[in-house]
Amino acid sequence: MTRDQLFELAWILPSVAIPTGMLVALLVTAYGMGIHVPGQVSTVDPRTVAQTPPFDQPGVYQVGPNRFEVVLLAQIWFFQPREIRVPAGSHVTFIATSQDVVHGLRIRGTNVNLMLIPGQVSRAEARFTEPGEYLFLCHEYCGVAHHTMAGRVIVEP
Ligand code: CUA
Repeated sequence: MTRDQLFELAWILPSVAIPTGMLVALLVTAYGMGIHVPGQVSTVDPRTVAQTPPFDQPGVYQVGPNRFEVVLLAQIWFFQPREIRVPAGSHVTFIATSQDVVHGLRIRGTNVNLMLIPGQVSRAEARFTEPGEYLFLCHEYCGVAHHTMAGRVIVEP
């Protein structure tokens, strides 16, 4: 083997070994350790999601004293519902999915930060103690009107 061939081999081997190692790490964490996108709880058929409970009736539901569930459906380029009203001190569970492409849900002032993937139902919780308006946004690029895809949580005193 010439010096040039050795040099070439020294580049080829890591360029195969590194992606192989990364792929193995990905498979081990995804399937072995069950690590996946945050908040995923179940699956739903995105073709019929708009007719499938609870997503056939997106909205805000009171489920207990100071406890609410928000069923949120994302599509290009809006959220249903766009406006969520809850009283201050509420504990809110968001149950959300997308019926077309990948969207995101980021609620300002909370740690809600989900990917909304067609077919996957995501869940996150937040407590709204301070009255005010909390903007929520789609944070996954989803097409030409992505930047208009927003809504607000209005926390009433
Ligand atoms: Cu939906 Cu960006």
